[in-house]
Amino acid sequence: MSRRALITGITGQDGLYLAEHLLSEGYDVWGLIRGQANPRVSRLRRHLPDVRLVRGDLLDQGSLISAVEKAAPDEVYNLGAISFVPMSWEQAELTGEVTGMGVLRMLEAIRVCSGVSSTRTGAQGQIRFYQASSSEMFGQVRETPQNERTPFHPRSPYGVAKAYGHFLTQNYRESYGMHAVSGILFNHESPRRGTEFVTRKVTLGAARIKLGLADELRLGNLEARRDWGYAGDYVRAMHMMLQTPTPEDYVIGTGRTHTVRELVQAAFAAAGLDWERHVVGDRSLHRPAEVDLLCADPKKARAQLGWEPSVSFEELIAMMVESDLRLLADGGEPDQDSSWP
Ligand code: NAP
Ligand code: GDD
Repeated sequence: MSRRALITGITGQDGLYLAEHLLSEGYDVWGLIRGQANPRVSRLRRHLPDVRLVRGDLLDQGSLISAVEKAAPDEVYNLGAISFVPMSWEQAELTGEVTGMGVLRMLEAIRVCSGVSSTRTGAQGQIRFYQASSSEMFGQVRETPQNERTPFHPRSPYGVAKAYGHFLTQNYRESYGMHAVSGILFNHESPRRGTEFVTRKVTLGAARIKLGLADELRLGNLEARRDWGYAGDYVRAMHMMLQTPTPEDYVIGTGRTHTVRELVQAAFAAAGLDWERHVVGDRSLHRPAEVDLLCADPKKARAQLGWEPSVSFEELIAMMVESDLRLLADGGEPDQDSSWP
């Protein structure tokens, strides 16, 4: 019998890559979808008709219990979240509910459906759980590079909500013996990245300027540093983490860091443009509190999982610029079907 996986956040960047990866590994893949007429669901149906869909919402405990009962998964990947950091200041309570409390609701759904309690711990055949934790939890970093033991100092309501979900995942492992792991993933990008995130905003902006569709690109803090990798590599790590005999948490990143300014230079150079003629600083895009520097120490994942990234920063940015040039030249819209190559 095929193994079964249930993915929350399946309509997002990582959800689609993970679903493709698990299908290629022979899994029966189920995706949790929400909303009445969510356009991302029809896009998902067209791209991956083999994925089975179940309705539910991380805000709705009963719907998650029903979804787990219906999908009867061996593995649950909790990728659903409000994931755009600036939005977490504008809708802090909602971010706490979805990105933080949503983890509690998903863990409870698994616990209830598996019949696990404080007196009956998990047995063989239990449902394995992956939590999408984030390097944003390191925030104002205490050391560089950051590893699994680096203390957290989150700088946004999003980072605080992720830290809650992270500790709760550890707590359910320790309290109930659940096979629950957190992947502390650093920024990962792709041609499918949402256009609100800086890499895609820049590659799409450069492509628009190259094709004469725009003349300037407005950006916030150019000095922030991130460890940017390719999303297709990172979903492999999620799967690997759930296959180990003992549940543990892992940092996933490349170990290289670049400023937003270097990202802009790389993207505009890939489009054959001089960035200084087009990029305009915009104070309104700076954040109330910034994460200045992220850089992963992925030694544990390399040693214990055998995980390695396969795409460099330069290759990633070139891939995204090429994809956006193709998309716009073909008359496509970034948020339509064609933006998911
Ligand atoms: P994304 O593209 O923003 O996707 C977010 C997903 O969450 C969407 O499928 C969205 O579905 C779903 N969602 C939002 N609210 C929900 C709710 N109330 N109930 C159920 N689902 C809901 O994010 P991503 O880049 O794929 O990231 C996946 C996960 O990894 C997120 O948890 C993110 O915080 C975390 N993470 C990402 C990175 C990164 O660099 N990409 C790094 C570290 C951690 P709808 O279509 O219904 O809106
Ligand atoms: N989005 C955006 N837009 N960011 C900008 C801009 C702009 O116009 N100008 C400068 N930046 C800077 C931000 O201030 C930040 O320092 C950096 O670019 C990266 O911003 P994002 O791409 O929005 O990503 P993020 O690092 O805040 O969060 C992403 O990575 C986290 C992991 O570290 C998201 O995917 C989170 O969900 C994820 O957890």
